[in-house]
This record gives sequence, structure tokens and C-alpha cells, in this order.
Amino acid sequence: MADAKGKVKRRTKKPAPAGPDKVKRIAILTGGGDCPGLNAVIRGVVRAAILEHGWEVLGIQDGFDGLLAAGAHRRLYSHDVRGLQARGGTILGTSNRGNPLSYPVKASGKTVFTDVTGEIVRNIGKLGIDCLVAVGGDGTMKIAQALFEKGVRVVGVPKTIDNDLEATDVTFGFNSAVNTATDALDKLHTTAESHHRVLVLEVMGRDCGWIALEAGIAGGADVILIPEIPFDLAGICDHIEKRKRTGSRFSIVVVAEGASPAGGEKIYEREPGADGNPGRLGGVGRWVADKISLCTNLETRVAVLGHLQRGGAPTTFDRILATRFGVEAVNLIAAGEFGSMVCLRGRKIDSAPITAAIHGIKRVDPRGQLVRTAEALGIELGRMP
Ligand code: F6P
Repeated sequence: MADAKGKVKRRTKKPAPAGPDKVKRIAILTGGGDCPGLNAVIRGVVRAAILEHGWEVLGIQDGFDGLLAAGAHRRLYSHDVRGLQARGGTILGTSNRGNPLSYPVKASGKTVFTDVTGEIVRNIGKLGIDCLVAVGGDGTMKIAQALFEKGVRVVGVPKTIDNDLEATDVTFGFNSAVNTATDALDKLHTTAESHHRVLVLEVMGRDCGWIALEAGIAGGADVILIPEIPFDLAGICDHIEKRKRTGSRFSIVVVAEGASPAGGEKIYEREPGADGNPGRLGGVGRWVADKISLCTNLETRVAVLGHLQRGGAPTTFDRILATRFGVEAVNLIAAGEFGSMVCLRGRKIDSAPITAAIHGIKRVDPRGQLVRTAEALGIELGRMP
């Protein structure tokens, strides 16, 4: 800004707002499955912590593993996060195996599952970390809460492409995943139409059908199958045959990996184990396609989108949400609101106790507005008659 004489006045640096006692060094980790937007959160946290408060930031490598004996960390500077808003994945690495509340430890040649959070608390103390920012889904938030109960100052940032975390309207990563799935449906449409085929797209969604439902509506699917509505094959086949009779010689089916037939079970590529391994879902798309082909005699093909939904650059929406979450996490630390998680309510960034996010998961309401929108468009949800 120039003064009356036209001389440019230098801006004096804004004094850093006083934080809670003794916050000098914070740390950030990303846990659970990756998703687009994690790097934008890291950038938001690092920049706001350094520029607004002059705090040091440590980046913890590979989720909570980085706080165990063999773990690794490094100091993050402003230049380390340059341009990160546009980059998928996480520069810190992540892990969705080895939950520290039940960690596989070798003892006398056997693997035993042990709570190693005590070791994490000690290492946080040794590293002089005044507050830990944990970015992750429900698994990460459960661990963050356990650490908070042991006296660690933590702040949570919710992420998951599945959008199934309670206490926030939306998680970043979801919009990018829906975009990828919608794009795939647009592509499948042209080939399905050309060959007069039924094309089945299997998308992610372990317990909740948010990706399938939103991408299905946006991508003009004819059938959408979600975990919240156990499906009836006869109704689905009737719908596809009726489309054919009325001149639509192709159909597009989108199925969430966690969807299951009424009275049946979820389909796993690798079954869950007694050791707490949650199993790997996969195969319901093939299963549905085979049944449709048998029952309608129509040529059917399957595409499984898999980890393409978790990769690549975040959408503009996710970049902004993730950045706002990162900056707000720093504000929570400055305000001393430990044990809280940032969240989105309407258009406003807010916060909630981490406990509010982990008491259950946010499912699609089978009679809710979004489902009714799909049904109003004539989309078959596979409901039992
Ligand atoms: O929780 C997100 C999610 O993408 C689920 O939809 C899916 O079942 C799971 O992660 C797959 O995780 P992994 O990286 O272990 O294959």
C-alpha cells in the first residue's frame, strides 16, 4: 500500500496469536487407506502452523507405524509442501495394517496381538511433540481417541473416499472418487450402447453406498446396488428386460463392493481373519453380471474400478475442503481444543469431539432423499418386493 507521498509502506509481520501453553512443535501423520486430498491437508497444516504460529512441524512416516521403535519422521518446512494441493496420495506414506491397539508382535516364535499405544505415547514425549494431527478414517480416529485418553494432545482430520464417517457432512476424497466413478460410467455407456450389452461397474464402498449412489445418479446408471439395500435379483432382471422391450438395448449397473443379495452375504476376495484382518471385498460385480446374463440371456460384461478411485489428483472441491480442514486443525490446536476433529457442517468448517465420529458409521438412508431421487428417475435399487 502507498502512503500520501506515494512511498510504498512495508507490511509489518502480524504477531502470531498466542497459542495454548508450550505448543512449539506439532506432528502430522496420515493413517488408513490413502485418498486424494491428503497432501492438501498436509500443506494446509504445515503452512498455517509455520506462517501463523511459528511452530515446528514433524511429518510422521507411514501412519502410527512411524511412532513405533522402527518408525521414521522428518521436519517439514514450507517449501516441502509447495504445490502439494494438486498431488494425490500422501507424501508421508500411510498404513492400513497393524492397528497399534492390537499390534502383531513376535514373542517366542509366535505372533501375539498387543496394545502398543504406550510405546507411541512414550515416543511422542521423546520427540517433544506438543500436539499430534491425525488424518484418517474411523480406524485412525479410534487410535487417536485412545492416545488422547492416555494424555496425548491430538486433533483429528477426517478422510475417506467412502464418505462413511460420522460427525462430518462430507470427507475429502469422496468427491474425487465419485468423479472417477462417474467418468467410468460415461465411458461404459458408449461401449454398452454400441454392443447392446449389460455393463456392470463394481465400485468401492465397504459398508456404505455413497459412491455407487452418487456416481450412479450422475452417470445415468439403470440399476444401483448398495450395501444398505439388500438386493433382489429377480427385480433387477425384470427391470433390464423391460428396458430392452421398450427399446433400450443396453443397461448400466453400478454395484458397491459391499452390496449383497437379500438373505446372502458380502462377497470377499480374501475372507476376514480371526487376527482382526478385515478381509478384502471383491467379486460382487462378477457375481451380479453372471446372474443377470443367466436370467436375461443378454451379453454382460464387468469392470472393477478398484484403487483407481483412490488415486490421482484431488478435484477442486476436495482440494479446498482438505486445505480448509488442514488450516482449521491448526486453529483447533491454537485454541487448545484437543480431542476434537475438524468437520464440515453445511458450508462451514466446524469441529466435533473425536468420540462423535467413531460411535458408528454414516450410512445411506434407504428411504432418504438421495435414494428417492434415484427412484424418481426410474433407477432400480433392487429392493425386495
Ligand atoms: O475404506 C476405503 C476403502 O477404499 C474401501 O472402500 C475398500 O474396501 C478399502 O478401502 C480397500 O482397502 P485396501 O487398500 O486395503 O485394498
